[in-house]
Amino acid sequence: MTNTLYTNDNLFILHGLNSELVDLIYLDPPFNSKRMYSAPIGSKAAGTSFKDMWTWQDVNESYLDKLIEKYPFLVRFIQSIEGIGGKDMLAYCVYMTQRIIEMHRILKETGSFYLHCDPTASHYLKLILDEIFGKNNFRNEIIWHRNYSSGKGSQFESKKFGANTDTILFYSKSNNFYLNINHGIEANSLEILNTFPKIDENGKRYNTATPIYCSKTMGARPNLCYEWRGFKNPHSSGWRLSKERLEEEYKLGNVVITLDGKLERRKYLDDYKGKPIDNNWVDIPRATGKERTGYPTQKPLALLDRIIKASSKEGDTVLDPFCGCATTCVSARNLKRKWIGIDIETKAVEILADRLDTLGKFAKSNKSNLDFIHRTDIPQRTDIKIELITNKNVKERLFKQQNSLCNACNVEMEIWHFEVDHVVPKAKGGGDYYENYQLLCANCNRVKGDRPMEYLRTKIKSREQLLKNKITFGG
Ligand SMILES: C[S@@+](CC[C@H](N)C(=O)[O-])C[C@H]1O[C@@H](n2cnc3c(N)ncnc32)[C@H](O)[C@@H]1O
Ligand SMILES: [Zn+2]
Repeated sequence: MTNTLYTNDNLFILHGLNSELVDLIYLDPPFNSKRMYSAPIGSKAAGTSFKDMWTWQDVNESYLDKLIEKYPFLVRFIQSIEGIGGKDMLAYCVYMTQRIIEMHRILKETGSFYLHCDPTASHYLKLILDEIFGKNNFRNEIIWHRNYSSGKGSQFESKKFGANTDTILFYSKSNNFYLNINHGIEANSLEILNTFPKIDENGKRYNTATPIYCSKTMGARPNLCYEWRGFKNPHSSGWRLSKERLEEEYKLGNVVITLDGKLERRKYLDDYKGKPIDNNWVDIPRATGKERTGYPTQKPLALLDRIIKASSKEGDTVLDPFCGCATTCVSARNLKRKWIGIDIETKAVEILADRLDTLGKFAKSNKSNLDFIHRTDIPQRTDIKIELITNKNVKERLFKQQNSLCNACNVEMEIWHFEVDHVVPKAKGGGDYYENYQLLCANCNRVKGDRPMEYLRTKIKSREQLLKNKITFGG
């Protein structure tokens, strides 16, 4: 697979990507914040803007059928959102669901999924993800503290606490997935050096913070009371370790009798496995300085580095379907992972090329070295059997499957009266494969034209209503 940046609506691109293709998906979609975002003039990203306001127009009706057919419970839940969250939240949730279903399909069985959002919609999205991934595959709600600025000025007059966090919902596709949470702090960071302040005779760092005796409050422990190499336990709670373990640790050099005859239990930096990362991320500041591209809502590389290191290995493939200024792609590249980025904004590709060049340490003059391709066309899946509509077999199969009925108005006819149609029109990203074909009667096919099934269904319904009315009034 070649690293690829697509410029198009991700719904179309996702539909064209093969199943079980990628190991990790990170997405940072618009949050339904009801704002327009634009990049500042003069920044690398100048000229970019995207909206974060939603109406039903944002929902691609061509794909609604698939949703209704495959996830009936989810559809019922989403329908109920309108009453609480309003029409725009409903539209946003449908928009997101249509895409998340495809992402779930594209993710490998062993893959992981991180959805970056904020409290505006995180609670709605959590339920949608529980249904698509299965609630047992929910791993964490990660809280990312975006900055350290203390509240000032108008924040003190505001009727809520300062909102300085984002929410990242982490799911796996199954129970068999890779996770490394021990890379939290680099071994040479100041914090770690301070934790191992002493240096032994061989120049190795260690500390003596781990006790060798139990504390008195732990009560009497006769089995831990013994004499060892002339040392006795100071009180009845005894030693921390059994006599055998103490001797073992002594031989390993982790328990030492010092020159002045004292006992020391040592923890060495060399044995330190790192501090496991928890779900409260306060140590990743916003992107600043040279890293800033000016792209609205740019995320810091350190945030993506953490996610990619935790949930993928070198050579794995990472997908970001809302990649913006391509932070995920740059991080994946730096960490020797393969990547796919998608953004509807044409500016993204320019910024990416520029970032890979400077942050990826390529010679500025030689952009031809960039190891990725840029596509604006819609890919076609190669993992499903593609059968051409001229194939007589396909028509016969569909005819049997539909019980000799038109797929829209249910009229029964002989096979030769039927016409083969694309369920999702090709103009809307629908492909030439069996699942996207149906048989319609000539009348339905003419009404539908190049439009989605939703349109045809509404037309049929209003025709039926009209007929009903005529009958009632006539009677
Ligand atoms: C919050 S930003 C992502 C920022 C990104 N994480 C970064 O670090 O630069 C959301 C992005 O989603 C893109 N977007 C919105 N709707 C899209 C769609 N239907 N298909 C592809 N991209 C879309 C916007 O152009 C915008 O760049
Ligand atoms: Zn019909």
